[in-house]
Order: sequence, then C-alpha cells, then structure tokens
Amino acid sequence: MQFQEIREKILIIDFGSQVTKLIARRVRDLGVFSEIINPNNLKKIKNFDNVKGIILSGGPSTVTKSNFQTIPKNIFEKKIPILGICYGLQLIAKLFGGKIKSSKKKREFGRAFIFKKKQSNLMKNFFSKKNSVWMSHEDAVVKLPKNFKVIAFTKSSKLTAIENSKNKIYGVQFHPEVTHTDNGNQIFKNFLFLICKVKQKWNIASQKNRLIKEVREIVQKDKVICALSGGVDSSVVALLINKAIKKNLICIMVDTGLMRKDEFKYTYKIFKNRYNLNVKLVNASKIFYSNLKNISNPEKKRKIIGNLFIKIFERESKKIRNVKYLAQGTLYPDIIESRSSTGGKSVKIKSHHNVGGLPKKMNLKLVEPLKEFFKDEVRILGKSLGLSNEICYRHPFPGPGLAIRIVGNITLEKIQILQDADYIFINELNKNNLYNKIWQAYAALLPIKTVGVMGDSRTYEYVCLLRAVTSEDGMTADYFHFTKDFLDNISNKIVNNVKGINRVVYDISSKPPSTIELE
Ligand code: XMP
Repeated sequence: MQFQEIREKILIIDFGSQVTKLIARRVRDLGVFSEIINPNNLKKIKNFDNVKGIILSGGPSTVTKSNFQTIPKNIFEKKIPILGICYGLQLIAKLFGGKIKSSKKKREFGRAFIFKKKQSNLMKNFFSKKNSVWMSHEDAVVKLPKNFKVIAFTKSSKLTAIENSKNKIYGVQFHPEVTHTDNGNQIFKNFLFLICKVKQKWNIASQKNRLIKEVREIVQKDKVICALSGGVDSSVVALLINKAIKKNLICIMVDTGLMRKDEFKYTYKIFKNRYNLNVKLVNASKIFYSNLKNISNPEKKRKIIGNLFIKIFERESKKIRNVKYLAQGTLYPDIIESRSSTGGKSVKIKSHHNVGGLPKKMNLKLVEPLKEFFKDEVRILGKSLGLSNEICYRHPFPGPGLAIRIVGNITLEKIQILQDADYIFINELNKNNLYNKIWQAYAALLPIKTVGVMGDSRTYEYVCLLRAVTSEDGMTADYFHFTKDFLDNISNKIVNNVKGINRVVYDISSKPPSTIELE
C-alpha cells in the first residue's frame, strides 16, 4: 500500500544513532510530519518539493576515516534548511572544509554545560542561566568550515553549535532530542517554525479520514482479510479498514486456547457487537494443545505455534472467496530503514511470532495503514476511531501467549491454573490503579513444585511467578516497584484462590540481562 506523498515533511537522514526515532517523535509532537530515511536511499527520492527541512542524525560512523557515511553534496544545493546533530554536525563540517579530530581528551559523554556565543535563530529562547545538554561523542569539530559561525560552546568543545545562516545550515554536537538536554525541544521548534517555516499541520487524529480514503481508493470493491488478535495494533487496523470498506473486511480471530482467561471471547463479542465487524472466531485450542504436548523447549514451542497459526489462518482464509488483500498492523518502527543502514545482523534471542508475520505465499497484496505511525500514535488513532481504553491501553501480549509463560511442558491443568492466577493479578493491578503505570504485567508458572502447608495438611504444588515491568518500547525494561502491602496481598489472594499454587515469587530482574517473557 503506497501512501500519497502530499504532505509537508521533515526528512530525517539516519546514520544509525540509537535515538534517531526520538528525533522523529519530537518533530511529530510539534505537529509536523517526519520521515526517517537511510542515507543510501536518498537517491530514490525524485522530488523534494514537500521536504521542508532535513535533519542529519547522529551515528557510529566517523568522518576521520576515509569510508565515512555521507550524503550527496547536491542535497545542500536544494535550498532546504539542514540541521546536523552530533555525527550530522561533523559531516556538515567535513563536507564544507572544517576539521574534525578524534580525541580522548575532548570527548564528552553525558552531561555538559553549554554557553551562548552568538545570537542565532536556532537557539532563540534556548538558553537559561545554566543549560545542560546531553553529549555522546569522541570526535569533535576543531576548525570551523568556511562561511560558518560558532553559536555555542562547552568547556571541552569550542565549536559545539555552528551555523551558516545565509544558507540555513546548522549543526549541534549535543542531542536536543533526548530529555536529558534542558529545553532541547526549543531547538526543534526554532528549526521547524523559524528556519524551515513549516506549518503545524500534522495531527494523528486528523489522519483518520485520509487513511480511510486511501484504503478505499486502493482496495476498491475487493475483499480484505485481517488476523485480529485483540491487541491494539490489529484492532486499530480492523476498525480503520472497516470504516473504509465495511463488510468487505473479514477478520479472523484464531483462538489458540493460550490466551488470558475469558479475554478472547470477550474481545470477540466486543468486535462483533459493539464495533460491528465482520469477524469469524476459529476455536483451534485442541490442535494447539495436542501439538504442544510434551514440548518444553521454548524455541520449539514458538515455532509450533507460529506455524500452526499460519496454517489455520490460511485454511480459514481459503474458505472466503475473492480475497485480494491482507491487512497487517505493521508499525513505523518495524520498517524504519535504519536497520540496514547500521549494518550488522543482530543476534536472535527469541523467534517472535505475531499475527503480522503471515505467509508470503498466500499471494495477497498487503494493506498496512499503520506503517507510518509509532505505537502511541496508533493509540491516539484508536481512540479517535472509538476504540475503548481497555483495548487501546492494553498491555502487550505475545503471539505465543501463555505457552511461553508456562515454563517447560504445557498441560491443560497448568493453563487453567495460570489463567486463574493471572486474572487475579491483573484485577488487583486495576483495582489499585497500577495497571496504567506498568508497561506489561503477567503471571507465569514455573516448572517446579514445592512443599507448603495449608490448614494442617502438607501441599506439594506449583510456584507462580509474577512479572511487572516499566519500559518505553520493550527493548529494555526494569521491574516495577510494588509496595510490600501490595505484594503481601497478591501473594495471599493467589495462594488462597488458585488451587495448584502454594508459593508466589516476584521477578526483580531487569532487561537486560533478563528478557520480559520467561521463554
Ligand atoms: P522479550 O521477552 O523479548 O519481550 O523481552 C519483549 C516484548 O515482546 C513481546 N513478545 C512477543 N510479542 N510475539 C509478539 O507479538 C512474540 O513471539 C513475542 N515474544 C515476546 C513481549 O511480551 C514483550 O512485550
């Protein structure tokens, strides 16, 4: 699905910084559409008319070596304002004849204090009495490029912000996109509105009608299928496409029997009755259970579930005639091109399964209306489509479901025990207004039994592990700090109400070194 290129935008050229996504977020939060692009793909852009500004990100490359990452110099001839951040500044300096040195003495990591040298539109209203900025560099500009002036400096770096105001080219060594930089947003405001003179037009809720119109134009009278999991991404996709083509969207919900207690049936009813979706519920729990019998290896579990899911989805979709499109909840972070620009394959930790990874051989064309949005933007879109808070702000839930929260082999009995414990845990989080403070929480069952005493009798039952983490994007996480009262209460409730559990433990590991899920 190709979206029309009609909007004013800021192009962010990604040299592989860990925080490039944040630049895109800052720009969008200020009401301007931003797009991240791999420098190697710049030549594919035929028309720069709607590009109102360019930001060059930071990155691991160094202009002090001959094979540094760069951009075609004719970008600077297009009269589009340019802001370089960190590596971006160094690249600008290099391309315009400045000098950059790698120096252990001059390197700055973390906080640095910044001082004004000269009035500049880029740094208008930025300085306060003591501004601290966030730095992460070893290379530094040591000689100004031709026709540039210094606008700010730090103790270690005399050329920390520079400009060529005539040609509207700016560079800062620090990272205005991270929250540790005081007043960093002001830099973006100035760049966008004073320098690029772009208008504040981007607003995610206002994208709804455009997206609906585009889906309608693309799909026309054809049918679309969608695997609906009840998570926020697939739910928003389904509501959006339903608004565009109504009954020509057919949603398939595959009940793997590995979902939270009652959640799937409840969600199905909501989609069918409240949102009026054309949705088919496929109960496949038996086949999932039988295929998972005696399987305790986490990767095997994941593979079995992923493959079965695809098989069942394919089987069901073949029953529907004249389907031409498959709708997926692909998000912007999934497709940001920087993945390949930074090179280096990442090591596989787990084989993720989600309903987004449906088979290519189905020969369907893809509809991915969320592919330019971040998760929190999808939530706002969901709200504007009338999606309930409950679904919009639901914690992430992994495709393989409870199978990876029952460590070791899976039995029906264990699934029921776990569903009951998890239900109590999530209810208590809601009752104590903690659910929305936590990024993800769940109960898991460990593959050991321990001895306990209840009444006057000995028990020999399972250990329930509780996990609750705070996180921004699931890449890193910390455990949530519950009060002792909450932990006392939840342990008591689970042991008293769930037959099969006589011990509760709380997981206090962060990610890394642990992961969020147990398998
Ligand atoms: P880990 O365990 O890798 O999890 O720290 C990070 C985030 O990803 C979720 N997760 C999955 N999501 N399919 C998914 O859709 C999967 O196979 C899968 N495995 C883990 C996990 O719940 C957490 O939010």
